[in-house]
Amino acid sequence: MATRQLTETGSLRHLIRLKGLDRAFITRLLDQAEAYQTPMGEPPARDQVLKGRTVANLFFEPSTRTRASFELAAKRLSADVLNLDVNMSSRIKGESLIDTIYTLQAMQVDIFVVRDAGAGIPDFITANVHPHVSVLNAGESNISHPTQGLLDLLTIRQNKNTLDGLVVTVIGDIAHSRVTRSLSEGLAIMGRNELRLVSPEGLEPDMDLYPGVRFSRDIDAALKGADVIMALRIQRERIKEQSSLLTNPEYLQRYGLTESRVQLAKPDVIVMHPGPMNRDVEIAGAVADGPHSVITQQVNNGLAVRMAVLAAVMESRQS
Ligand code: CP
Repeated sequence: MATRQLTETGSLRHLIRLKGLDRAFITRLLDQAEAYQTPMGEPPARDQVLKGRTVANLFFEPSTRTRASFELAAKRLSADVLNLDVNMSSRIKGESLIDTIYTLQAMQVDIFVVRDAGAGIPDFITANVHPHVSVLNAGESNISHPTQGLLDLLTIRQNKNTLDGLVVTVIGDIAHSRVTRSLSEGLAIMGRNELRLVSPEGLEPDMDLYPGVRFSRDIDAALKGADVIMALRIQRERIKEQSSLLTNPEYLQRYGLTESRVQLAKPDVIVMHPGPMNRDVEIAGAVADGPHSVITQQVNNGLAVRMAVLAAVMESRQS
């Protein structure tokens, strides 16, 4: 059963997916994230809102951006932060996930931040923790990555001054992309946007998961008139049989985001990538570092969005 994410008074208790949240709620989260941003070179914003609270980061899949930014976000909000080293934990000795959760809950953890390859794990944890404990989904299988969706919305809003009426083209391994699922949910909530998905054979999504969205194999056609382009890496760790397509040294020219392809989009197009990035595979290095790229802005926004989400969860304790 899908987790109820909001309390009866409309405060955020858990964040498992963007679907089910409304435009006003997401707008408030994005506004709060922006309020936490300071110019590069100045000290980062700090707040006492999580003082005396404990946040546990449980990453059962690798991560750089999400794990580091949740840790920094919690520390900047004055929480005690536990980063469980999964490979040195008792899960290696056979302890189940839920017994790991119960163990840490007994140490008065208030918020679990969880990344796991298994579908349904965040909902499973929310169904088993104490009512005062919150769960934040930091990446669930190929299903959901809600804070990535929020940081992508914030990045688009900052560059386009709107989240309505945009053409957004996503290129690459969409079959395995929780980033695209959350972006799709977010764009549908925020406005009447056109999402175009394009991927090579073997990496196409189940379009039942994307109602009203256009799929194409023609990259150049899908880029025409785009306001936003998102490039995705091939998630080799989720693919059992590596086809010659995926090991093809010509992948960039055939399926990747090159400088000449960016020219097909609108002149003020922004280029996004959730990371980690494989330069000169799904995206040319010159595009990643080029004038349209907002990839480092996405990372900066990720920290601010995670601060906003953590602070919102604390609000639910007061209501
Ligand atoms: N975008 C993203 O989730 O990156 P990490 O895997 O490095 O956290």
